[in-house]
Amino acid sequence: MATPQAAGSYVLGSAASEHDRLVRQGKRLGPFTERLFRDAGLGPGQRVLDLGSGVGDVALLAARLVGPTGAVVGVDRDGAALAKARPRAAEAGMTHVRFLESDVSALTGEVPFDAVVGRFILMFLPDPVAILRQLVTHVRPGGVLVFQEASWPSFLPQVAHLPLWTACAALIMETLHRGGVRSDMGNVLFRGFQDAGLPVPTMRLDVPVDQGADTRRWLYDLVCTLQPRFAQLGLSAEAVGDVATLGERLERELDETSSYAAGVGLVGAWARKPG
Ligand SMILES: C[S@@+](CC[C@H](N)C(=O)[O-])C[C@H]1O[C@@H](n2cnc3c(N)ncnc32)[C@H](O)[C@@H]1O
Repeated sequence: MATPQAAGSYVLGSAASEHDRLVRQGKRLGPFTERLFRDAGLGPGQRVLDLGSGVGDVALLAARLVGPTGAVVGVDRDGAALAKARPRAAEAGMTHVRFLESDVSALTGEVPFDAVVGRFILMFLPDPVAILRQLVTHVRPGGVLVFQEASWPSFLPQVAHLPLWTACAALIMETLHRGGVRSDMGNVLFRGFQDAGLPVPTMRLDVPVDQGADTRRWLYDLVCTLQPRFAQLGLSAEAVGDVATLGERLERELDETSSYAAGVGLVGAWARKPG
């Protein structure tokens, strides 16, 4: 069994501002996650387990796909995040979603699920392959595992001509690295699925680009979440300047170079459990 990691070491923390950031992120990435889940076969009547639910965006998305004849269980160890996820589900009329406070490594068997899903969760785990192996036992034969994780290297070429965006990306990647987080999940997913006894996964890489306000501000948003970690992890934020003015300076850099804004790469993988 994988060893649970101390919740306090989770690099993004559990502040209310981080939970708000997850909601903005969920709105921006929802269409990409929905397309991945639909292609992986999520649909009406299925029972879905969502790992690392946070404030519930992926669980709610899955709940819309499976409809009222299906069911979704969302798991997270952050009780404060789940306390926000539950009323969001109630307000959306999603009575077929429930949330469970648990470390993903401590899950014990329920009735096997038709699908196990997650967005931005395996990258935070010390041993994602061990977790994938455990998860396979929570899926019925013929059921599907589908994950969408980050690929920072596929974002970098989009901002190579933007010195401030590049400096922020470098600072964030180093913070993630020192915080024990993988910033490039492509091959981890590709190999990890197979090491967990699953078939070669179907893979997808999306790099969202647009001019929406949330996409123009997402990098600044993430710097704000990680700011308390810089000194703790021995990093200087000098290269990005005063965080109080960073949001405006990042947007100005886009405007002065007539550039679109890009999001972090989203690497998706799915495979069905043989049987
Ligand atoms: C970046 S957030 C993503 C939330 C959600 N999946 C989304 O896309 O909006 C990662 C979530 O994983 C949770 N998490 C991290 N490690 C965990 C673990 N070992 N067990 C359970 N939850 C964990 C965190 O508390 C956080 O809510």
